[in-house]
Amino acid sequence: MPNKVLIIGAGGVGRVVAYKCAQHRDIFGEIILASRTRKKCDAIAKAIHEAYGGKKIKTAKLDADVVSQTVALIQSYRPDLVINVALPYQDLPIMDACLVTGTHYMDTANYEPKDVAKFEYSWQWAYQDRFKKKGILALLGCGFDPGVTSVFTAYAAKHYFDEIHELDIVDANAGSHGKAFATNFNPEINIREVTQKGKYWQNGKWVETEPHEIWKDIDYPEIGPKRSYLIYHEELESLVKNFPSLKRARFWMTFSEEYLTHLRVIQNIGMAGIEPVRYKGVDIVPLQFLKAVLPAPEELGSNYTGFTSIGCRIKGIKDGKKRTYYVWNNCSHQAAYQETGTQGVSYTTGVPAMIGARMILEGKWSGKGVFNVEEFNPDPFMERLNADGLPWNEKVDIDLGMD
Ligand SMILES: NC(=O)c1ccc[n+]([C@@H]2O[C@H](COP(=O)([O-])OP(=O)(O)OC[C@H]3O[C@@H](n4cnc5c(N)ncnc54)[C@H](OP(=O)(O)O)[C@@H]3O)[C@@H](O)[C@H]2O)c1
Repeated sequence: MPNKVLIIGAGGVGRVVAYKCAQHRDIFGEIILASRTRKKCDAIAKAIHEAYGGKKIKTAKLDADVVSQTVALIQSYRPDLVINVALPYQDLPIMDACLVTGTHYMDTANYEPKDVAKFEYSWQWAYQDRFKKKGILALLGCGFDPGVTSVFTAYAAKHYFDEIHELDIVDANAGSHGKAFATNFNPEINIREVTQKGKYWQNGKWVETEPHEIWKDIDYPEIGPKRSYLIYHEELESLVKNFPSLKRARFWMTFSEEYLTHLRVIQNIGMAGIEPVRYKGVDIVPLQFLKAVLPAPEELGSNYTGFTSIGCRIKGIKDGKKRTYYVWNNCSHQAAYQETGTQGVSYTTGVPAMIGARMILEGKWSGKGVFNVEEFNPDPFMERLNADGLPWNEKVDIDLGMD
């Protein structure tokens, strides 16, 4: 029987999730798109209807910070699943609404409090008992990274290794949008993420670094070498917990010189601040004001060229012998734009969110409680990646180029 989903958030990622769900109306029979600004939902619903016809996507205005509003919306539409692709700040209030209404929940980014840039699962893992008791499922972090990178790791551990020892997640955006400075997803969340200290897992503990202190030129398939910086990324926390054989786990992301120079200036002049500043009698958060003047990620698509390349490079043991494994996807910004009207970073997040939703609705991923993506069977998800626009490649026993 076709299911009903409520998508919350009508930004770049919400747009892709809505498009991809609308491509599978046999699974996603009814789609409701709700967000803070209703006209963004209406514009997406209209574009999808023009592209695919079929049953219209319903839209609604929602402030998901207010639990009672989300409860009322869920009660009026009765969705089987809520796909949260608003901002990480909304994770807990939306989980609360799911608990009140007994509705399955999923998201693509872990909760962050507005007043501290802090990435950790503790707040959401604390819902474990309540979700279990209510008999519902929460799937955390089902975008690309976290999300596909977690599935890639689970797939490698299941099929290629007896034990995985070293994991390097390598994330390159080798695209060009033609702007002097722009972020590929929500600027506020993005800048909070990349300006924090670096951190990686080694021999049972976290090692902290200054922001961008450790870097390396990593060779990406079909792209070539790109300077990549060790940063902390949220999936490391759940992956080292769920794969305790990992002795080292790191995350690398490419940034251009120009991006980093802009970022330094933004920080030096205080525009990355998250403390309110009083200006002409009004409290303004500098980073939120900066978001208002930067290009919106969803506007970057039309001139975006090049590829993203994200994958996992893993070392470990199979049948008593050392083994290496690399699994990755390259995604074209232009192809993503042609299909969904937005660029590759939103696309690589929205497609896995739709696939995760599909896994839950088809009962391929099931359970009661709060789960990270790597806790489920990776195989049906890997199959869908190939079918739904994010085909992957793999190489075994090669030089990974990571020391
Ligand atoms: N795992 C991954 O690989 C990955 C990668 C990229 C992004 N992400 C995550 O994906 C999510 C969406 O990113 P994005 O780039 O699409 O961001 P975005 O373009 O800024 O969109 C966020 C949307 O959420 C809406 N929103 C914000 N606060 C809300 C509230 N209180 N109630 C209802 N709606 C609200 C916004 O409304 P307005 O339109 O009114 O502002 C906007 O439509 C973020 O959580 C981000 O961290 C994950």
